Amino acid sequence: MDKFLIRGGRPLKGRVEISGAKNSALPCLAATLLTAETVTLHNVPYVKDLITQRRLLEDLGATVLVPELRTHKVTANNIQTFEASYELVKTMRASVLALGPLLSRFGQAKVSLPGGCAIGTRPIDLHLKAFEQLGAEVSLESGDVVARAPKGRLQGSEIHFEKVTVTGTENVMMAAVLADGTTTIRNAAREPEVEDLADLLVKMGAKIDGAGTETMTIEGVEALCGAEHSIIPDRIETGTFIVAAAMTDGQLEIAKCEPRHLQAVIEQLGRNGVNIEQVDATTLRVSRDSKGLRSMDVTTEPHPLFPTDMQAQYMALMTQAEGTALITETIFENRFMHASEMIRMGADIHVSGNQAKVNGPTRLAGARVIASDLRASASLVLAGLAAEGETWIDRVYHIDRGYETIVRKFRALGADIERIADYMAETA
Ligand code: EPZ
Repeated sequence: MDKFLIRGGRPLKGRVEISGAKNSALPCLAATLLTAETVTLHNVPYVKDLITQRRLLEDLGATVLVPELRTHKVTANNIQTFEASYELVKTMRASVLALGPLLSRFGQAKVSLPGGCAIGTRPIDLHLKAFEQLGAEVSLESGDVVARAPKGRLQGSEIHFEKVTVTGTENVMMAAVLADGTTTIRNAAREPEVEDLADLLVKMGAKIDGAGTETMTIEGVEALCGAEHSIIPDRIETGTFIVAAAMTDGQLEIAKCEPRHLQAVIEQLGRNGVNIEQVDATTLRVSRDSKGLRSMDVTTEPHPLFPTDMQAQYMALMTQAEGTALITETIFENRFMHASEMIRMGADIHVSGNQAKVNGPTRLAGARVIASDLRASASLVLAGLAAEGETWIDRVYHIDRGYETIVRKFRALGADIERIADYMAETA
């Protein structure tokens, strides 16, 4: 397995361009299954999860052309099967996003039930309950979710999610757009990625009101047509680079981002002593305040509040801040694995249940650490960049799932980071 070797202590300086949002490109690619016409998506990030999603579409029979690295032209006019295999789903749980479109357009879908992952059990019970409320028959057959629309077409309904679910909201949106009648989704996820999916669906001819609010109304139509759409910038990658600038006491210009999508993060980091100036509509200039970083408590919540996907990066920042910060994780049950790795680097962190107390500032020393999930690995890169000495990060395949050319981007900013390919693993 590849590793990263980081020699820390160098302030990052320069300009970085943000890539397209992985968590928008994944549902948008799934949405191409809703029509036989060609859907063209631009600004698709070049990351592992999107390569997996593309393979899923091709395994189902869709044609995916990639005329240039970040443009995908998908034509699902020859779907041969309605089944997403275990091999694919086990590597990427977001494959469950195939359920909604397959059920919606073809009245049937079979997707392997995704297992949990490092950060939690991550059930999809709310997705399945919503499909049943839309008239589907859903059963579990030897590890596969099998869903069918007995009348051939789903029926619009009133869906009320008992807890906010991002991909659950997205799956129901894609199921409802071709249903017979109107669907209302209450307690819908409000993430920018949900709004981006709605924008694409409306371009394809769907009738959706209220995307981005907690109540969405979708009026089913007979069919959807092709469209062209550009994926929004990745707000979590943006937040990650803001923290990188602050932790290394550097100066960064972060371009091609959408500051409106991470207002809670920008406001919070501003209170922590990170200077974030908006240069123009899509560019931020970031540095650490001369008075240093200040510790503050943070609780993760659904959008528009502080996102769970920035929790690990915030923890890394708090190791360098003056005082004590209490971080409360309310979305996932096991999302503090990065804490033990940072402790190995000298951080003063105490985890108890869904809370982590971080005392700072502490001088971090390079160490050998192991990445456990996508955002944890990003936080370990940040810690390594701020630490003195060498940090080796193992299992960096996690970071390759969601950060495009992360080594190249950091090296261009002056970081001493390199990927050590494990050729033995390749040949093993
Ligand atoms: C999406 O995951 C993101 N992934 C996650 O990003 C993100 O952390 C998460 O939303 C929360 O913002 C994609 O968009 C591909 P949820 P998702 O359904 O949809 C529970 C990353 O780092 N739940 O909003 O799977 C669930 O266990 C990834 O890019 C149920 O109980 O998350 C969790 O505790 C990690 N039953 C909470 O709800 C369900 O049916 C929120 O989960 C569904 C969810």
